[in-house]
Amino acid sequence: MSSSYKTIKLKNKQHIAWIILDRADKLNAINSVMLQELSNALDMIEKDENTRCVIFVSNGEKAFSAGADLTELCSLTPETAAQFSIKGQQVFTKIEACSKPVIAAIKGYALGGGLELALACDFRIASDNAELGCPEIKLGLVPAWGATQRLPAVVGVSNAKQLIMTGDTIQANEALKIGLVDKVVPSNELEADVEGLAQKLVKHSPVALKYAKLAVNSVAQSLFDCGLKKETEDFALLFSEKETKERIEAFVSQRNKK
Ligand code: COA
Repeated sequence: MSSSYKTIKLKNKQHIAWIILDRADKLNAINSVMLQELSNALDMIEKDENTRCVIFVSNGEKAFSAGADLTELCSLTPETAAQFSIKGQQVFTKIEACSKPVIAAIKGYALGGGLELALACDFRIASDNAELGCPEIKLGLVPAWGATQRLPAVVGVSNAKQLIMTGDTIQANEALKIGLVDKVVPSNELEADVEGLAQKLVKHSPVALKYAKLAVNSVAQSLFDCGLKKETEDFALLFSEKETKERIEAFVSQRNKK
């Protein structure tokens, strides 16, 4: 597979494609380059008959991903914010619609867009040091890459509101209790455990797996599409709010002072 990526790495072993988020120094924050690279990698994987399962992992111990790259959010207007939202939604919908099973191996923080990426996967296995949440509300924002729709589908409306409206993060064991992750394992066993699940999946008929996945995905699909549109509209609108800009700039300028 191509090694021309700047923000991700790919490896392919025994029919399993590993997509490694590779901006550890920025806690694997998802910038526009990473979004595009993820999109390209997913296109390639979709076409590759040799690949029968996909695993998302991260480089570094501290984070699966701390979400959208906040330095890119500072200059957004309502118009460019809508584009930003749609772009992320499209890439994550590509994960959800991928004809092969997709697993997220979550180590450390999975916040905001990082959690949204994991929510688009079919399975989520977390290490015992994982911390998950949607902190957007603390920035005067709402999630923009699918969480307002996928989170209630995974954990129920009440748990989704808890996470989205408080911005609180939860630890792996709490995430397991509400069904946000399927399993929690010790950090040093995460990759082996995820690989074990992938190996089980690649033994099944790829066509049957594809039909099974897409049939389950089709539940409430039209409601989901309307919901994504609403999410983009709300996210974009918040970029005309002075308070949103002030909160994002405060985060970024604090970092620049370090
Ligand atoms: N966007 C851009 N950069 C980010 C980032 C993000 N979402 N999250 C972390 N980083 C960067 C930091 O700016 C820092 O970079 P620097 O060393 O060049 O200053 C580096 O990653 C390490 O993060 P830092 O904040 O120093 O680590 P920490 O252990 O003190 O805190 C978090 C970890 C996850 C609690 C904190 O980074 C955080 O709150 N991040 C933002 C999470 C968020 O709001 N995500 C939703 C975005 S919509």
